[in-house]
Parts: sequence; structure tokens; C-alpha cells
Amino acid sequence: YESASVGELANKLGREPSEIIKKLFLLGVMATINQELDKDAIELICAEYDVEVEEEIRIDVTDLEIYFEDPDTDDEAVESNTEAIERPPVVTIMGHVDHGKTTLLDSIRDTKVTQGEAGGITQHIGAYQINSNGKKITFLDTPGHAAFTTMRARGAKVTDLTILVVAADDGVMPQTVEAINHAKAAEVPIIVAVNKMDKPSANPDRVMQELTEHGLVSEAWGGDTIFVEISALKGEGIDQLIEMILLVAEVAELKADPSVRAKGTVIEAQLDRGRGAVASLLVQDGTLRVGDPVVVGNTFGRVRAMINDVGRRVKEAGPSAPVEITGLSNVPQAGDRFVVFKDEKTARQIGESRAGEAIQEQRTEKTRVTLDNLFDQM
Ligand code: GTP
Ligand code: MG
Repeated sequence: YESASVGELANKLGREPSEIIKKLFLLGVMATINQELDKDAIELICAEYDVEVEEEIRIDVTDLEIYFEDPDTDDEAVESNTEAIERPPVVTIMGHVDHGKTTLLDSIRDTKVTQGEAGGITQHIGAYQINSNGKKITFLDTPGHAAFTTMRARGAKVTDLTILVVAADDGVMPQTVEAINHAKAAEVPIIVAVNKMDKPSANPDRVMQELTEHGLVSEAWGGDTIFVEISALKGEGIDQLIEMILLVAEVAELKADPSVRAKGTVIEAQLDRGRGAVASLLVQDGTLRVGDPVVVGNTFGRVRAMINDVGRRVKEAGPSAPVEITGLSNVPQAGDRFVVFKDEKTARQIGESRAGEAIQEQRTEKTRVTLDNLFDQM
């Protein structure tokens, strides 16, 4: 919006046009109701009403943001015209404090992650992938709550299904209920892992009973929720749990197209003294490759190096793979989206304008009204 008429501006500010005309007059501008005001005049008036006008540096950005949301609309991707194929499920683990989330994640990793990865050393990159008879599953390492709250707050959907861990000797607790609510809000299917079955005080029936009250009815009781009894500590029931995850994933028909340019979500990121900005990414569609120009949240770069969850250098990462990358100009945030672009110039252009935008947003946090949203807000 380079200009607006006196009438339009008055409308947006919720004032009478005569009042605006008077203000303009006092500012030395003679105007009528239909008169077009230039940017300077609009700014002057807005300042009078304590409304800040954001600079219109965003014209390009709006277009590019659409591109950012859906990079597949460009020619190259359309031409390739390939079919989406099955991809591994991405799983989070949730549950009340001390019910065994971390123990379960470790137990699953210990039993399965080393298959075909002999000699690899576990790297904490925020997620890991297991291979069970040729079928892969990605587990998010971050506590389920964080994955749901911070990521969802940023509009990212990363989880295909969640394992709700409930200690059989403790039953349903406040954070169990919270976890159920998060998963329901996100429409993510739940598999219940009744943990600590090795304990003499374990009472799985009580867990089933209590969960019924929250809408999770076991298949054994005529419902449709899968319950698996496990001991994360002793590694019991883990194979069955994995089987159930694969079953639910199969029903969900999770798909992605490895032939397109990669996009996905930041799982975690930090500044490393030696390596610079380091980000763990979950590839959600396409294939990410070393050398790819990428926009990540408000930053950008070229993928310099990638390592997987066992510390191996990899050249590419397909759908549902977690990888840690270097080569970004800044540290992004968990939950940020990333998208690969055709060329570095475009990535840089978009990355820089998004960064500029972010700074702008911080600066104008008070009664921030852009000429764009001024028209929506009032
Ligand atoms: P927070 O991260 O603090 O929320 O806890 P958590 O859910 O990650 O629980 P964690 O895995 O740390 O386990 C808590 C305690 O329960 C630890 O002392 C574990 O050794 C123990 N524990 C976990 N699973 C089992 C199990 O299957 N059987 C028994 N007996 N103890 C278990
Ligand atoms: Mg833990």
C-alpha cells in the first residue's frame, strides 16, 4: 500500500474523515475525502494516532512466502511428476514424569539402532531412526511435550503417532492427561505403553480403567486403542510395541515424494564453537542433499555437511530422516520450517528478507499495525 484515500484511512483508523481532514489541515495538507494520500502523509496521520506503520519492504516477501509454503509449485517439480511413496512414521513419546519415557527411548535405540550401522556412535541430534526388518521408524528424542507445544505453536506438524507411557504402578497422572489432550488436539493417534510391568506392584487393569475415562478404550475391552505391556528397563515388550507402531503407520498410509526438493522442520539447533550454526532437521518431504541451498526459518545457507543419528557423514537424507546440518548463516529455532531452493541466490534473497522481517517485527512489537493488516484489524 503505497497510498490510500482519506476516506479509506479514516475508516481503517476508526475515525471520521472530517477529523482526518482537520488533522491534515493542521499539518499543512489540504485534502478532501477522496484525495489519495502518499506514504508520508499516511505515516504522519498514523503517528498522530500512535499507530505505527511498517515499511513496505514486504512486497516481494508476500509472493515468496507462498513459494516458501509450497515450493513444489515451480516448473521443475511439476515436470518431474513423480508419485509419493511410503515413508517411515515419526513417533514421539509422552507421559507423566518418571513413568519411563527416557528409559523407553534408550531401550528402543539400544535394541534396534545398531542394525546395519555397526561401529556407529550414537549422536544426540534430537531424533533417531531404527530399522526393524527393513522397516524404519523415526523417534523424536525431545520430550513429547516440547515437541508438541513449541513445534505446534510454530505451526509445525512433525508427529505421526505418539506413544503414551503410563507406569503400571502409578496409573494415570496429570501429565498423562495433558499428553492425551495434546495428542487429541493434534489429531495424532495414540498407542498406550503400560510400563514398569516388571514391578510387583504393577496393575495394568487399573491403567486401562483410568484411561477409559479419558476416551482411550483398550481393544481388549471393545475399544480401538492399542495397549502394549512393557518393561522399558528390562527391554520386555519392545518388539511388540514396534510391531504395533508399524501397524498403525501402515494404516495411516504415510507418504512422501523423495524426488522433490526437501522440506521439513527444525528439531533443535545451536551454535557450535567450531562448526557454527548447527541444526537438526527432520526431512518431511523430498531428499535433502549436501550442497543444497536452503532457507531455514529466518536464516539460510548451503548444506555444508550432514551427519546422521549415529554420527555418519551422509550425502543425502530422504523423507522422515533426521539429520544434523551445518552451513547456515544463523541459528534457527526448533519448530522452524526449512525448504530447499533451486539456487543459492533465491535462498539468500528469501532468507535475508525473512530475517529483515523478523527484526522489523521485534522492533515494532508495540501497537504494530502494518498498512496491510491495518486493513484487516480494524
Ligand atoms: P522424566 O524425563 O523426568 O519425565 O522421566 P521419564 O519419563 O523419562 O522416566 P525415566 O525413563 O527417567 O524413568 C524414571 C525412573 O523409572 C528411572 O529410575 C527408571 O530406571 C525407572 N524405570 C523406567 N522404566 C522402568 C521399568 O520398566 N521398570 C522399572 N522397574 N523401572 C523403570
Ligand atoms: Mg526423561
